[in-house]
Order: sequence, then structure tokens, then C-alpha cells
Amino acid sequence: MRHLLAAADLSQAEALQILDTAEAMAETQSRQMKKLPTLRGKTVVNLFFEDSTRTRISFETAAKRLSADVINFSAKGSSVSKGESLKDTAQTLDAMGVDAVVIRHSASGAPHRLANTDWIDVPIINAGDGAHQHPTQALLDAFTLRRHLGSGGQRAENGTDLAGRHVVIVGDILHSRVVRSNVDLLTTLGARVSVVGPSTLIPVGAETWNARISYDFDEVLAEGPDAVMMLRVQRERMSSGGFFPSPQEYTRNYGLDRPRLDRLPEHSIVMHPGPMNRGLEISAHAADSDRSVVLQQVANGVFVRMAVLYLLLASQEGSPQ
Ligand code: CP
Repeated sequence: MRHLLAAADLSQAEALQILDTAEAMAETQSRQMKKLPTLRGKTVVNLFFEDSTRTRISFETAAKRLSADVINFSAKGSSVSKGESLKDTAQTLDAMGVDAVVIRHSASGAPHRLANTDWIDVPIINAGDGAHQHPTQALLDAFTLRRHLGSGGQRAENGTDLAGRHVVIVGDILHSRVVRSNVDLLTTLGARVSVVGPSTLIPVGAETWNARISYDFDEVLAEGPDAVMMLRVQRERMSSGGFFPSPQEYTRNYGLDRPRLDRLPEHSIVMHPGPMNRGLEISAHAADSDRSVVLQQVANGVFVRMAVLYLLLASQEGSPQ
């Protein structure tokens, strides 16, 4: 693995290697001294052309826990606002001798562009591109699912410990890179995925995905899924409006409220990649309930990103200490 651009690029063996390495990283993070010397002398750039709280801080934390130096680049306040291109920005970073680039961009394909040109010759990690992919989010979601629904992070004898599990992903499917990466990764790991939303928020072509498409949340809920992943309604990408009649109607049909939460099987978990629109796609009661693993997803993101950075930058140089 040279870059991490899309969840679909990962074979089952590669995905499991990242998840197993993340478990090893998690173990190191329960020690009093959390910092490992693994990436000492390496420099990781967080190149963020779009806003982020969780992903940027998580990558920064992960890199620092591995002793890398971290440069945080935000398009706001940089020469991008003076019109500098992605190419010139990448070549500038290359000239400064960085060792890896973590990139978030509103344009789908921007990380692939960096990985497939000679502008910069280092591992590229996609931290979310447009409505296309967010592979480390899918990996941290799979890690979280595995901890709750698998055999404690231990791989089942045949296949993976998510084999046969039913994960329902609900909401603004159209604008979500999280759903695309999760469908790809979870099915690679053997899980069954149902995608639910209003027809206006399901993209043309979704019927070709490796997932069942439904417009009826209650019908899918009645099947007793193992996990429900609520997606944010991405209002900032809905300039044309008209995706649903009113927020109240959206919540009534697709929101995870107390009655729907109560209908979930006892073992099933509630997920959300964040940031949450409380009161729209998820009620405060559901978000804060003991079925919610939202903050565990955030914590697990650090372990998964430590694993990705380690595997891309250091795995040839020895085991994590
Ligand atoms: N889940 C996620 O990508 O959150 P941020 O936009 O805060 O990084």
C-alpha cells in the first residue's frame, strides 16, 4: 500500500491488517506514556481545503503520538486564497521535504490527482474528497463495529468478524463520502449494508452499489439491524433547496428518535460520523444514549490513523514499540 485514497482499493487482507494494527496501537494508548518513537524525524502535512474538526485533529494526534512532526495547512489564511493552485501548493510542500500528505478537498479526486502526478512523491492519505471517499472514517467505523459486534477485535476463523452483520446507513446519501467508503469497506469485510433515505437524497447510480437501497427507515428497522449509522444532512451542499419539504418532515421519516431507538435490538449500536445535527437526523436522546458509540468512533479514529500512518511510513522500518 503506497497511498490510501479509497476504501475500495483495500483488499480484505489489507483492511484487516490496518484494523489489527489499530488494535495494537490502541493497546499502546492505554499506557501512561502514549508517545511512540516510530515516526521520529518524519513530517506529516495536514492539507485541509475544507473545514474539519475530528479528522484534522485526529490525524494530528495520531502523527504526534507516533513522534512525527506535523504541519497543519488550512486553505483559509494560506496563499490558496490568493489563487494558488493545488499543483503549486503540492510542489511547495515537496520542496520543503515532507514525508506524507493528508488531504481534505471539496473536489472529488483531488487526492488521486496528488497521488498520480509528479508534483509530490510521498504517500497521500485521503481525509475526505467531495462526495467521493473518506476511507479512514470507514476504517474507524469498521474498527468500532468490530469491537462491539465482533469477537473483541479477534478475527473469526473463517473470514472476518463482521461477516453477516447488518449495518443500516440512513440519511443524506447523495452528499456523503462516508456512505460510499462504508459500503465498500463493510462489504469487503463481509457485512450486509442497507442504505436508507428519501429518493431526493439517494444519488442516481446507487442501485449499482453493493448495498440494498430503501426509502423506508421503519421497514428496515423492523429487520433488527446490528448497527444504525445516521448521516448528517449536509445543508451547506444544498444551495438549490427542495431536497425535502421541511426539517420536521425529514425528522419524522428519517430521524432517529426515541421510539425508533427503542425498537432496535438490545445489542445494536448507534453511530454517527459527526458533526451531528441534533434534532434533525438524530435526537439528543439517541445521540447521548448508552447505545450511542459516537465518541468511541472519535477515540478509535486516532488508533486507526496511527495504524495508517505507521503502515504507510514506517512498517518497513520495524514494529511499533
Ligand atoms: N467525520 C468527519 O469527517 O468529521 P470532520 O468533518 O469534523 O472531520
